[in-house]
Amino acid sequence: MDSPHIPVLLDEVVKEFSSTEFDKVFFIDATIGYGGHSKAILESSQNIHLIGIDRDSEAVEFSKKRLNSFGSRINILHGTFSEKINEAIKLAGDNKIIGILADIGVSSLQLDKIDRGFSFDSPNLDMRMNQNDELTAYKIINNYSQYKLEQIFKDFGEIRNSKKIATAIINNRPIESGLELANLIEKTEGRWSGTHPATQIFQAIRIEVNGELNQLENLLKEIELFARNNKLNGSKIAIITFHSLEDRIVKDKFRDWANSCICPPEVMKCSCGDNHDIGEILTKKPIIATEKEISKNRRSRSAKLRLFQIN
Ligand SMILES: C[S@@+](CC[C@H](N)C(=O)[O-])C[C@H]1O[C@@H](n2cnc3c(N)ncnc32)[C@H](O)[C@@H]1O
Repeated sequence: MDSPHIPVLLDEVVKEFSSTEFDKVFFIDATIGYGGHSKAILESSQNIHLIGIDRDSEAVEFSKKRLNSFGSRINILHGTFSEKINEAIKLAGDNKIIGILADIGVSSLQLDKIDRGFSFDSPNLDMRMNQNDELTAYKIINNYSQYKLEQIFKDFGEIRNSKKIATAIINNRPIESGLELANLIEKTEGRWSGTHPATQIFQAIRIEVNGELNQLENLLKEIELFARNNKLNGSKIAIITFHSLEDRIVKDKFRDWANSCICPPEVMKCSCGDNHDIGEILTKKPIIATEKEISKNRRSRSAKLRLFQIN
Protein backbone atom coordinates (compact mmCIF):
# COMPACT_ATOMS: atom_id res chain seq x y z
CA MET A 1 0.00 0.00 0.00
CA ASP A 2 1.52 3.34 -1.05
CA SER A 3 1.71 5.93 1.69
CA PRO A 4 0.96 9.60 1.02
CA HIS A 5 3.50 10.55 3.71
CA ILE A 6 7.23 9.89 4.06
CA PRO A 7 8.12 9.40 7.75
CA VAL A 8 10.99 11.63 8.89
CA LEU A 9 14.07 10.40 10.79
CA LEU A 10 12.79 6.85 10.31
CA ASP A 11 16.08 4.99 10.84
CA GLU A 12 16.94 7.15 13.84
CA VAL A 13 13.57 6.37 15.48
CA VAL A 14 13.46 2.65 14.67
CA LYS A 15 17.00 2.16 15.99
CA GLU A 16 15.83 3.35 19.42
CA PHE A 17 12.99 0.86 19.72
CA SER A 18 13.81 -2.21 17.67
CA SER A 19 15.35 -4.55 20.23
CA THR A 20 13.62 -5.94 23.27
CA GLU A 21 14.42 -8.70 25.74
CA PHE A 22 10.78 -9.21 26.77
CA ASP A 23 8.26 -11.66 25.22
CA LYS A 24 5.59 -9.06 24.75
CA VAL A 25 5.99 -5.30 24.92
CA PHE A 26 3.96 -2.29 23.85
CA PHE A 27 4.85 0.76 21.82
CA ILE A 28 2.60 3.82 21.66
CA ASP A 29 2.63 5.89 18.49
CA ALA A 30 0.74 9.00 19.61
CA THR A 31 0.59 10.40 16.05
CA ILE A 32 0.24 7.32 13.91
CA GLY A 33 -0.65 9.27 10.74
CA TYR A 34 -0.14 6.92 7.80
CA GLY A 35 1.67 4.31 9.87
CA GLY A 36 5.19 4.85 8.50
CA HIS A 37 7.05 4.79 11.81
CA SER A 38 4.67 2.22 13.29
CA LYS A 39 5.07 -0.22 10.40
CA ALA A 40 8.86 -0.13 10.61
CA ILE A 41 8.80 -0.61 14.39
CA LEU A 42 6.34 -3.53 14.12
CA GLU A 43 8.54 -5.12 11.47
CA SER A 44 11.65 -4.71 13.61
CA SER A 45 10.46 -7.19 16.26
CA GLN A 46 7.68 -9.78 16.57
CA ASN A 47 7.34 -9.00 20.29
CA ILE A 48 6.19 -5.44 19.80
CA HIS A 49 2.48 -4.64 20.05
CA LEU A 50 1.37 -1.22 18.97
CA ILE A 51 -1.21 1.26 20.16
CA GLY A 52 -1.66 4.12 17.72
CA ILE A 53 -3.49 7.41 18.18
CA ASP A 54 -4.53 10.07 15.67
CA ARG A 55 -7.09 12.85 15.77
CA ASP A 56 -7.61 12.64 12.00
CA SER A 57 -10.16 9.97 11.03
CA GLU A 58 -8.71 9.68 7.49
CA ALA A 59 -5.30 8.87 9.00
CA VAL A 60 -6.86 6.33 11.40
CA GLU A 61 -8.67 4.54 8.54
CA PHE A 62 -5.56 4.57 6.37
CA SER A 63 -3.21 3.19 9.02
CA LYS A 64 -5.74 0.52 10.09
CA LYS A 65 -5.76 -0.79 6.51
CA ARG A 66 -2.02 -0.42 6.05
CA LEU A 67 -1.18 -2.29 9.27
CA ASN A 68 -3.98 -4.84 8.97
CA SER A 69 -1.54 -7.70 8.35
CA PHE A 70 -0.17 -7.30 11.90
CA GLY A 71 -3.54 -8.56 13.19
CA SER A 72 -4.00 -8.43 16.94
CA ARG A 73 -0.65 -6.71 17.43
CA ILE A 74 -2.23 -3.36 16.58
CA ASN A 75 -4.93 -1.22 18.17
CA ILE A 76 -5.62 2.25 16.79
CA LEU A 77 -7.56 4.93 18.69
CA HIS A 78 -9.23 8.01 17.22
CA GLY A 79 -8.81 11.23 19.22
CA THR A 80 -6.22 13.68 20.43
CA PHE A 81 -3.14 12.27 22.12
CA SER A 82 -3.72 14.44 25.17
CA GLU A 83 -7.07 12.70 25.81
CA LYS A 84 -6.17 9.21 24.51
CA ILE A 85 -2.71 8.68 26.02
CA ASN A 86 -4.35 7.63 29.26
CA GLU A 87 -6.40 4.92 27.54
CA ALA A 88 -3.39 3.82 25.49
CA ILE A 89 -1.16 3.35 28.54
CA LYS A 90 -3.93 1.45 30.33
CA LEU A 91 -4.44 -0.83 27.31
CA ALA A 92 -0.89 -2.08 27.74
CA GLY A 93 -1.91 -3.56 31.11
CA ASP A 94 1.06 -4.89 33.04
CA ASN A 95 3.21 -5.26 29.94
CA LYS A 96 6.23 -3.06 29.53
CA ILE A 97 5.76 0.04 27.34
CA ILE A 98 9.08 0.35 25.55
CA GLY A 99 8.35 3.76 24.12
CA ILE A 100 6.06 6.60 23.21
CA LEU A 101 6.56 8.47 19.95
CA ALA A 102 4.93 11.76 18.96
CA ASP A 103 5.74 13.04 15.47
CA ILE A 104 3.97 16.34 15.92
CA GLY A 105 2.43 18.40 13.17
CA VAL A 106 0.61 17.90 9.93
CA SER A 107 1.03 15.06 7.49
CA SER A 108 1.78 15.48 3.81
CA LEU A 109 -1.71 14.24 2.97
CA GLN A 110 -3.33 16.89 5.13
CA LEU A 111 -1.17 19.53 3.45
CA ASP A 112 -1.60 18.21 -0.08
CA LYS A 113 -5.37 17.61 -0.09
CA ILE A 114 -6.44 21.11 -0.96
CA ASP A 115 -9.98 20.76 0.39
CA ARG A 116 -8.51 20.22 3.91
CA GLY A 117 -7.75 23.94 3.68
CA PHE A 118 -4.11 23.93 4.85
CA SER A 119 -2.49 25.22 1.65
CA PHE A 120 -2.08 28.53 -0.16
CA ASP A 121 -4.25 27.35 -3.07
CA SER A 122 -7.08 25.89 -0.97
CA PRO A 123 -10.63 26.67 -2.10
CA ASN A 124 -11.66 26.95 1.57
CA LEU A 125 -10.24 27.87 4.98
CA ASP A 126 -10.39 24.84 7.25
CA MET A 127 -7.08 23.43 8.67
CA ARG A 128 -8.77 21.10 11.17
CA MET A 129 -6.82 17.90 11.78
CA ASN A 130 -10.04 16.43 13.16
CA GLN A 131 -12.90 17.32 10.84
CA ASN A 132 -15.39 17.09 13.74
CA ASP A 133 -13.80 19.97 15.66
CA GLU A 134 -15.74 23.24 15.94
CA LEU A 135 -13.01 25.78 15.31
CA THR A 136 -11.93 26.32 11.68
CA ALA A 137 -9.49 28.68 10.00
CA TYR A 138 -12.54 30.40 8.45
CA LYS A 139 -13.91 31.30 11.89
CA ILE A 140 -10.55 32.64 13.03
CA ILE A 141 -9.97 34.75 9.92
CA ASN A 142 -13.50 36.11 9.73
CA ASN A 143 -14.55 36.38 13.41
CA TYR A 144 -11.49 37.00 15.60
CA SER A 145 -10.84 40.58 16.78
CA GLN A 146 -7.90 42.45 15.35
CA TYR A 147 -6.12 42.15 18.71
CA LYS A 148 -6.58 38.38 18.84
CA LEU A 149 -5.34 37.96 15.26
CA GLU A 150 -2.26 40.05 16.03
CA GLN A 151 -1.57 37.92 19.10
CA ILE A 152 -1.68 34.59 17.30
CA PHE A 153 0.43 35.89 14.40
CA LYS A 154 2.99 37.20 16.89
CA ASP A 155 2.94 34.24 19.30
CA PHE A 156 2.60 31.31 16.92
CA GLY A 157 4.02 32.76 13.69
CA GLU A 158 6.74 34.85 15.37
CA ILE A 159 5.85 37.66 12.94
CA ARG A 160 7.00 41.22 13.56
CA ASN A 161 4.45 43.15 11.48
CA SER A 162 1.42 41.23 12.73
CA LYS A 163 -0.61 44.47 13.05
CA LYS A 164 -0.33 45.29 9.34
CA ILE A 165 -1.51 41.83 8.31
CA ALA A 166 -4.31 41.68 10.90
CA THR A 167 -5.56 45.10 9.67
CA ALA A 168 -5.54 43.94 6.06
CA ILE A 169 -7.57 40.86 7.02
CA ILE A 170 -10.15 42.90 8.96
CA ASN A 171 -10.51 45.34 6.02
CA ASN A 172 -11.03 42.59 3.46
CA ARG A 173 -13.56 40.38 5.25
CA PRO A 174 -15.15 38.05 4.39
CA ILE A 175 -12.19 35.98 3.21
CA GLU A 176 -13.41 32.69 1.84
CA SER A 177 -10.36 30.67 0.80
CA GLY A 178 -6.72 29.89 1.47
CA LEU A 179 -5.98 31.28 -1.99
CA GLU A 180 -7.66 34.62 -1.18
CA LEU A 181 -5.80 34.84 2.15
CA ALA A 182 -2.41 33.99 0.62
CA ASN A 183 -2.92 36.59 -2.14
CA LEU A 184 -3.93 39.24 0.40
CA ILE A 185 -0.82 38.59 2.53
CA GLU A 186 1.38 38.70 -0.56
CA LYS A 187 -0.15 42.05 -1.59
CA THR A 188 0.18 43.46 1.93
CA GLU A 189 3.81 42.41 2.27
CA GLY A 190 4.81 43.84 -1.11
CA ARG A 191 8.08 42.56 -2.58
CA TRP A 192 9.56 39.50 -0.92
CA SER A 193 12.23 36.93 -1.53
CA GLY A 194 12.76 33.40 -0.20
CA THR A 195 9.89 31.84 1.76
CA HIS A 196 6.36 32.92 0.81
CA PRO A 197 5.21 35.62 3.28
CA ALA A 198 2.02 33.65 4.06
CA THR A 199 3.96 30.64 5.38
CA GLN A 200 4.17 31.79 8.99
CA ILE A 201 0.64 33.21 8.98
CA PHE A 202 -0.80 29.89 7.79
CA GLN A 203 1.29 28.07 10.39
CA ALA A 204 0.04 30.38 13.16
CA ILE A 205 -3.60 29.85 12.14
CA ARG A 206 -3.07 26.07 12.02
CA ILE A 207 -1.57 26.06 15.51
CA GLU A 208 -4.55 28.05 16.81
CA VAL A 209 -7.17 25.89 15.03
CA ASN A 210 -5.74 22.68 16.46
CA GLY A 211 -4.55 24.01 19.84
CA GLU A 212 -1.22 22.42 18.99
CA LEU A 213 0.93 23.86 21.78
CA ASN A 214 -1.63 22.99 24.48
CA GLN A 215 -1.90 19.49 23.06
CA LEU A 216 1.85 18.98 23.35
CA GLU A 217 2.03 20.45 26.85
CA ASN A 218 -0.84 18.22 28.01
CA LEU A 219 0.68 15.10 26.46
CA LEU A 220 3.94 15.74 28.33
CA LYS A 221 2.02 16.42 31.54
CA GLU A 222 0.16 13.10 31.24
CA ILE A 223 3.37 11.19 30.50
CA GLU A 224 5.01 12.74 33.57
CA LEU A 225 2.07 11.76 35.78
CA PHE A 226 2.27 8.14 34.64
CA ALA A 227 6.06 8.13 35.02
CA ARG A 228 5.84 9.49 38.57
CA ASN A 229 3.35 6.71 39.35
CA ASN A 230 5.83 4.11 38.07
CA LYS A 231 3.68 3.17 35.08
CA LEU A 232 6.33 3.92 32.48
CA ASN A 233 9.42 2.40 34.05
CA GLY A 234 12.13 1.94 31.42
CA SER A 235 10.14 3.67 28.64
CA LYS A 236 11.79 5.93 26.13
CA ILE A 237 10.00 9.08 25.02
CA ALA A 238 10.67 10.32 21.47
CA ILE A 239 9.26 13.62 20.28
CA ILE A 240 9.71 15.01 16.78
CA THR A 241 8.82 18.67 16.27
CA PHE A 242 8.87 20.95 13.23
CA HIS A 243 8.50 24.31 14.95
CA SER A 244 10.85 26.15 17.33
CA LEU A 245 8.06 26.86 19.86
CA GLU A 246 7.26 23.16 20.10
CA ASP A 247 10.90 22.18 20.31
CA ARG A 248 11.35 24.63 23.19
CA ILE A 249 8.42 23.07 25.08
CA VAL A 250 9.97 19.61 24.73
CA LYS A 251 13.48 20.77 25.60
CA ASP A 252 12.31 22.60 28.75
CA LYS A 253 10.10 19.74 29.89
CA PHE A 254 12.85 17.16 29.43
CA ARG A 255 15.19 19.42 31.44
CA ASP A 256 12.60 19.55 34.27
CA TRP A 257 12.18 15.80 34.17
CA ALA A 258 15.93 15.28 34.53
CA ASN A 259 16.18 17.71 37.44
CA SER A 260 16.76 15.88 40.68
CA CYS A 261 16.89 18.93 42.97
CA ILE A 262 13.97 21.34 42.74
CA CYS A 263 15.09 23.78 45.46
CA PRO A 264 15.05 27.45 44.44
CA PRO A 265 18.49 28.52 43.08
CA GLU A 266 19.16 30.90 45.99
CA VAL A 267 18.97 28.08 48.59
CA MET A 268 22.43 27.17 49.98
CA LYS A 269 21.64 23.60 51.04
CA CYS A 270 19.27 21.20 49.27
CA SER A 271 16.16 20.42 51.29
CA CYS A 272 13.88 18.90 48.65
CA GLY A 273 15.25 15.36 48.95
CA ASP A 274 17.19 15.57 45.68
CA ASN A 275 15.14 12.77 44.14
CA HIS A 276 12.74 14.48 41.77
CA ASP A 277 14.09 13.37 38.41
CA ILE A 278 12.21 10.74 36.44
CA GLY A 279 15.07 9.80 34.14
CA GLU A 280 17.68 11.23 31.82
CA ILE A 281 17.89 13.24 28.64
CA LEU A 282 19.38 11.13 25.83
CA THR A 283 19.82 13.95 23.35
CA LYS A 284 21.73 17.02 24.57
CA LYS A 285 21.19 18.42 21.09
CA PRO A 286 18.23 17.32 18.96
CA ILE A 287 18.78 14.75 16.23
CA ILE A 288 18.22 16.29 12.81
CA ALA A 289 17.90 14.89 9.31
CA THR A 290 20.98 14.14 7.22
CA GLU A 291 21.62 15.98 3.95
CA LYS A 292 20.69 12.75 2.18
CA GLU A 293 17.28 12.58 3.86
CA ILE A 294 16.63 16.29 3.24
CA SER A 295 17.42 15.84 -0.46
CA LYS A 296 14.75 13.12 -0.65
CA ASN A 297 12.18 14.73 1.64
CA ARG A 298 12.27 18.51 2.09
CA ARG A 299 9.83 18.32 5.01
CA SER A 300 12.55 16.68 7.08
CA ARG A 301 14.76 19.81 7.01
CA SER A 302 12.99 21.33 10.02
CA ALA A 303 12.44 18.11 11.99
CA LYS A 304 14.03 17.81 15.45
CA LEU A 305 14.00 14.59 17.45
CA ARG A 306 14.54 14.64 21.22
CA LEU A 307 14.72 11.51 23.38
CA PHE A 308 14.22 10.95 27.09
CA GLN A 309 14.80 7.74 29.03
CA ILE A 310 12.43 7.22 31.97
CA ASN A 311 14.04 5.35 34.88
C1 LIG B 1 3.57 14.18 10.85
S1 LIG B 1 2.13 13.19 10.88
C2 LIG B 1 2.66 11.65 11.52
C3 LIG B 1 3.14 10.73 10.48
C4 LIG B 1 3.49 9.33 10.97
N1 LIG B 1 4.58 9.34 11.91
C5 LIG B 1 3.80 8.43 9.80
O1 LIG B 1 4.91 7.87 9.76
O2 LIG B 1 2.95 8.27 8.91
C6 LIG B 1 1.33 13.85 12.22
C7 LIG B 1 0.01 13.20 12.55
O3 LIG B 1 -0.29 13.56 13.88
C8 LIG B 1 -1.65 13.82 14.00
N2 LIG B 1 -1.77 14.71 15.14
C9 LIG B 1 -1.27 15.96 15.28
N3 LIG B 1 -1.59 16.45 16.48
C10 LIG B 1 -2.28 15.47 17.13
C11 LIG B 1 -2.88 15.37 18.42
N4 LIG B 1 -2.84 16.39 19.27
N5 LIG B 1 -3.49 14.22 18.77
C12 LIG B 1 -3.53 13.17 17.89
N6 LIG B 1 -3.01 13.23 16.64
C13 LIG B 1 -2.39 14.36 16.27
C14 LIG B 1 -2.03 14.44 12.68
O4 LIG B 1 -3.41 14.27 12.42
C15 LIG B 1 -1.15 13.67 11.70
O5 LIG B 1 -1.84 12.56 11.16
